Amino acid sequence: MNVLVLGTGGQVGASLVGMLGCFAKVTPVPRTALDVGDLDALRGVLRAAQPHVVVNASAYTEVDAAERDEPRATLVNGDAVGVMGEECQRMRAGLVHYSTDFVFDGGGSRPYREDDPVAPLGAYGRSKLAGERALTDSGAPAVVLRTAWVYTRWRKSFVSAMLRLAREREVLRVVSDQVGNPTFANDLACATAQLLYGMRSDPFAALAEARGIYHVAGAGQATRFELAVAALELDPRSQEHKVRKIEPIATSEYPLPAERPAYAPLDCTKFQARFGLALPGWKEALTRALRD
Ligand SMILES: NC(=O)c1ccc[n+]([C@@H]2O[C@H](COP(=O)([O-])OP(=O)(O)OC[C@H]3O[C@@H](n4cnc5c(N)ncnc54)[C@H](OP(=O)(O)O)[C@@H]3O)[C@@H](O)[C@H]2O)c1
Repeated sequence: MNVLVLGTGGQVGASLVGMLGCFAKVTPVPRTALDVGDLDALRGVLRAAQPHVVVNASAYTEVDAAERDEPRATLVNGDAVGVMGEECQRMRAGLVHYSTDFVFDGGGSRPYREDDPVAPLGAYGRSKLAGERALTDSGAPAVVLRTAWVYTRWRKSFVSAMLRLAREREVLRVVSDQVGNPTFANDLACATAQLLYGMRSDPFAALAEARGIYHVAGAGQATRFELAVAALELDPRSQEHKVRKIEPIATSEYPLPAERPAYAPLDCTKFQARFGLALPGWKEALTRALRD
């Protein structure tokens, strides 16, 4: 099975390369090799590679910057994803794509299911929703994995930011009124690899048959504050910390350009029921991630 992975410089993309490499021939395409927003170049790369599967881990993920540059976010997260869907359909390749909990407004009272109404609060969420719709409306042979709060300790993420700030400041103030599913990027890549391994005899037919949206995120839920506290407690190099106190604060005390959903855990039972796959609990995953 030949798998082309886009966005291999990112958290999920980098991890995918190693995991898929156990059973597939992987063509990694980092941003330095292709700007997916150059739609002609994107078509050219996909046509030249003729893969059996494309995994799109590339995305415009700067949530606050997207407020200032929504056209660019929409080009990368929406239009380019539409082209990936078209090209995959044309060359009979399957597509795995990732989306986000930011398609929801966070006003619910139970974890979101795939068919709950979407209502993004900001430009990033709108751009990711455009990508989802480009795939679901076109009939592309695509599985869309909606995930949340993805982190590694090595690349820019909420967890890596907390670890850095703990070394720089004595007091950390962290919002305690946003709830979500912390998701270790390697676990998401591992679930993606297991999904494709199960489809290896005919990935196009299997992805076409399974096409649709699935929620896939770390099990359990946490507030940003709880995640920060756990990350600092589990940090194997805590002797480097300067921090003495972590204070819970309200989102209104830490205004950012983009509004975040307050309560947006994802209900992942559809993915588990369909594929028999589930991500580990967030705290256990965090322990592994910090040793990584
Ligand atoms: N991070 C989260 O908290 C989170 C939450 C929910 C869903 N997701 C989704 O999960 C997927 C993977 O996210 P991630 O956390 O791995 O993100 P990431 O670490 O930011 O990686 C995204 C990758 O895409 C690349 N990229 C950005 N613009 C590009 C362009 N125009 N052309 C080609 N590549 C481009 C980036 O390049 P550079 O290396 O040059 O930056 C980066 O390597 C994305 O679809 C994201 O929307 C993420």
